[in-house]
Parts: sequence; C-alpha cells; structure tokens
Amino acid sequence: METERLLDVDMKFLWHPYTQMKDYEDRDLLLVDHADGVYLFDAKGKRYYDTISSWWCILHGHNHPTIKSYVKGQLDRLEQIHFAGTTHEGAIRLAERLASITPEPLTRVFYSDDGSTACEVAIKMSVQYWKQTGHKSKDRFIALERGYHGDTIGTMSLGGVPAFKGPFDRLTFDSFTIPTPYCYHCPCGIETASPACDSCGTPRASGCAIECLEPLRRLLEGRAEDIAALILEPLLMGAGGMIVYPVEYLQEVARLCRRYGVHLILDEVATGFGRTGRMFALEHAGICPDFLCISKGLTGGYLPMSATMTTEDVFSAFYGDYNEGKTFFHGHTFTANPLAVAAALGSLRVFEEEKTLEELSQKVDVLQSGIRGLARFDTVGDIRGVGMVASLELVADKDSKKPFPPRERRGFQVYLEGLKHGLILRPLGDVIYLFLPLCVTVDQINDILSRCNATFEGLGL
Ligand SMILES: Cc1ncc(COP(=O)(O)O)c(C=O)c1O
Repeated sequence: METERLLDVDMKFLWHPYTQMKDYEDRDLLLVDHADGVYLFDAKGKRYYDTISSWWCILHGHNHPTIKSYVKGQLDRLEQIHFAGTTHEGAIRLAERLASITPEPLTRVFYSDDGSTACEVAIKMSVQYWKQTGHKSKDRFIALERGYHGDTIGTMSLGGVPAFKGPFDRLTFDSFTIPTPYCYHCPCGIETASPACDSCGTPRASGCAIECLEPLRRLLEGRAEDIAALILEPLLMGAGGMIVYPVEYLQEVARLCRRYGVHLILDEVATGFGRTGRMFALEHAGICPDFLCISKGLTGGYLPMSATMTTEDVFSAFYGDYNEGKTFFHGHTFTANPLAVAAALGSLRVFEEEKTLEELSQKVDVLQSGIRGLARFDTVGDIRGVGMVASLELVADKDSKKPFPPRERRGFQVYLEGLKHGLILRPLGDVIYLFLPLCVTVDQINDILSRCNATFEGLGL
C-alpha cells in the first residue's frame, strides 16, 4: 500500500530527468528501496543487476564498507565549507592523489560539482588562457558531431546529440564540428568493422587509415588562430550511442592539436576510473591533454563531485597580482565538498585494497567475448565494446544497416523486457548497452549475459 501511495505521490510532484513522464501513466517507475554490490532491490524485494552502474558512476558496488566509513568519518568532522580562501585536508590529499594517477603534466586540480561543470570549467579556462597570453582571437571550439559533454548551455554548444539540444539551438554558441569516428556508419563510407580490442584491451582501427580526420586537418590548417580547444570523449562516446573508436584516431587528434597550438580537452567523465580497463582512457593512447575532466566514478559514484585537471602552463597564465585581472572567476557552492572528497578518497583506497584494475582483464575478456553471442539475433547489427562497457545496435536490416522507425521504440521495449529479467538495460535510442560496475564477478557477468539472451528471446528479436 505504502509503495503504491509513494508512486502516486511521485507522479503528482516529481519530474524525472531524461524521462517522458507520460510513459509512466500506465506503468510504474522502478521504486528502488536499497542496493548492495551490483544489485538494486525494489520495494517488493525483487533484485535487479545495476547493469548501467547507476548512470555510469558506481565502480566498487553499492553499500561498500570502505567508502561508507570514509564518508561517515568525515560527517563527524566537517560536512561543508566554501572553498575560496579556505581549504581542508581531504581536498588537499585528493588533489595530490589525482596528480599521482594522471599524466605528470597535469598538476593542477580545480574541483566542481558534476560532469557538465567539469567541462564548462575547461571551456572557460581555455578561452581565458588564450586571452591572457596574447591570443585574443582564440575563442572557438571543435567538437565531434555526436559528442556529449553535459546539459549546461556551454557544454550543449559542444554536444552533438540532436534530440538533446534541438530546442536550444539559438541559445548555444557556434562551434566547429568534425565527423564522428563511428565505424559502423563510417563517415567516409569505408566498409569497416567497429574497432577490435587488442590483447591489452585497446580498440584498434581495422581496415582504414582514419580518413575521417581529414576535415580536422583542413580546419586546423585554416583556422587554428581562432580555435581555443578541441573537446572529445576518449575512445568511448557515451551518450552519442556507446560508440567505440580506434586509439589511432585519438593519438592523431592529440598530435594535431599539439602541432597547431590548440588545447586538447579530454572529457573522461564517463571513461575515467577504470571503465575502459585502464584507470583513464588516455592511457591506451599514451597522450596527455591540456585539460582532463573527471566526475562520475571520481567518488566511486557515491556523491556528486568533479574535477578539471590542467597543467602548470595553464595555471601560470592566471597567476599574478590581483589587479592584473587574471583571476579565474568561477566556482560553485559545493566545490570540494568534504563528504564528496571523503568518498573519492575512499574509492581510491578501494582501488588499492582490492586491486581493482589488476582484477579487470579477465572480466573484460568474459564480457567482450560473451556479448558477441548476441550477434545471433537478427536485429543486432553491430556489437562494440571496450573495458567494462559493451553495446549492441539494433537495426531493422543487418545488410543495409537500416534503423528501425523511431516510433517503434525498440530500445525502450528491450528496457521493459529487461526489467522482467532483472536487468536495467536503459537504452540510448536503439543502442542497448552494459556499463558494468568494476566489482562485478565473472559469474555475474555470465548471468547478466544469459539474462540479456533471455530478454532478446522474450521479445522475439
Ligand atoms: C562524457 C560525459 N561528459 C559529461 C557528462 C555530464 O555529466 P553530468 O551529468 O554529471 O553533468 C556526461 C554525463 O553522462 C558524460 O557522459
């Protein structure tokens, strides 16, 4: 009774993100009561695998004793403090730890609240850097056609998912866009497969010479003096369709940015903290950006927090006497919130204690080979993946790669059927994906895959 009442009150007072509320007029929202490890439990005690890591952030599982003890300990000491003119031990220790696990030149940490603000900060820092170093015309950006960096006006301006930004076209600023390295629908029309991961789990180009970077080369040759930075999600484009692209693309982008004096912003909000099999996706490519944006897994997924990391070169352009006007006037109320910082320190502790990264390679193999079994379904057009992420693109016709009419909402049907099988297969259009917590076991991965098979069979796909 209480559950029904709560759900009625939810429908009366709440407005959920990325949700058409009418979808829930005649079906219930999933009321999650509690969670443990990779499982969520609804109000009736039914168990679901958290197959999307609660929107790509849970790493070590829910209800982890170490992270909880860090947060609880901090709660008795200091719960919130503004971060201008004050500091606190956790924030200092975390900055030192972040600097030690990222490439050496990334020595400066600017905290904020979420993935969008981490990217927004990088965008603003880059523009101000160029102004303060005598390059006043460098204030434009390059982004990928299907990129996603958040829902603020600034990050939307650099995002390319049409459904998300459509109504706001006139509010966003203009940017240069370059084709997405979407191998299944190659922008150059080359007949190639999605990149295959080598024995180190790094996605490599198969059958092309990254011809899709030609527009970037031309753009940089002609316009580099107007361009502040290029932003992209390394190796895995999340919201744009869980698109995995070859490491060679990333390496060449980094080389071109360096050559033409354009900042490189790597948005590792989704890929950071082990998701691709390495601590950061940039490690697969051996590159270092000018700005690294991290969030989601930063706190193990327990509390909202993000950081924008940058170099001493960038930092020094903002350093001077107050009256020189070089200060970075940006900040958020909850910057470096002590509870979130404690969760982040707890999460990094778990990485060490549980040897999380060392344990990953077998899990990655089981996931990436097991997902291939779903190719037997007639509607599964492409299968791609990296690290603990694997996705399937549903198509009406495998030969022509013709999509299903959007009104059929195939992805949503899979989601609803998945719930019956204890899975949260929240889709991106007709792309179904697994974005698994790093703590999932091999047996659990196999169980998840067999439930995916049952879900597809249940729908007659
Ligand atoms: C790559 C990437 N950047 C930025 C964001 C925005 O993060 P947030 O939702 O925390 O603002 C997301 C969110 O999914 C993301 O995947």
